[in-house]
Amino acid sequence: MRPARPTPPAHVRAQAPDFDSAHFRRSLGCFATGVTVVTTHAAPGSTESSPFVGITASSFNSVSLAPPLVLWSLDLQANCLPLFHGGSHYVINVLAEHQLDICERFAYAEGDRFAATPYRLSASGVPIIEGALAWFECHNRSRYEEGDHVIFVGEVERCGWSEGGAPLIYQGGRFGTMGPLPGKGTGLGQDR
Ligand SMILES: Cc1cc2nc3c(=O)[nH]c(=O)nc-3n(C[C@H](O)[C@H](O)[C@H](O)COP(=O)(O)O)c2cc1C
Repeated sequence: MRPARPTPPAHVRAQAPDFDSAHFRRSLGCFATGVTVVTTHAAPGSTESSPFVGITASSFNSVSLAPPLVLWSLDLQANCLPLFHGGSHYVINVLAEHQLDICERFAYAEGDRFAATPYRLSASGVPIIEGALAWFECHNRSRYEEGDHVIFVGEVERCGWSEGGAPLIYQGGRFGTMGPLPGKGTGLGQDR
């Protein structure tokens, strides 16, 4: 049986931060993340150089196993926001350690970010990047505007992974990769 949900406390406002944004960024940077590229369709009939758009995002995380839900967040200033907001599906591609060039392309490049990026299409016709460590094809289930970002919650319709690859890791503004500590963990998320 599910435990009863606790009653939320009476609403109180947060105090104003006692730090500046550089301090906040430095603190956040201590948290190591993977790196993803989230892809979707460009607007039909648009003058975009590619039929797809994609963006590098490290804000990906899991939300729920049943139903299978994940989240990521997108800056309100991002050019591609209306496309992700209005589209029915997107694919979250988890980058492997050898895909730093793809990470940088989808963060900074002007023009067609897909021209030099090998990909195949998902069932909903959205790019799955070849060589990605894992991919999640999501129905665009819900969106929550919070502060200067929109949190997207995706319902995963299909997903997959590559055996034996290592992830691209982002921490403190630098990129790296990882290996398991000897003798620690059972792997494949069974520790959670
Ligand atoms: C490692 C890394 C992680 C990033 N993560 C995010 C993220 O989670 N959300 C976001 O909105 N932008 C993130 N960015 C910045 C976007 O990739 C970048 O601003 C984006 O490509 C701009 O897209 P646009 O051309 O549609 O405006 C990240 C950039 C890097 C290098």
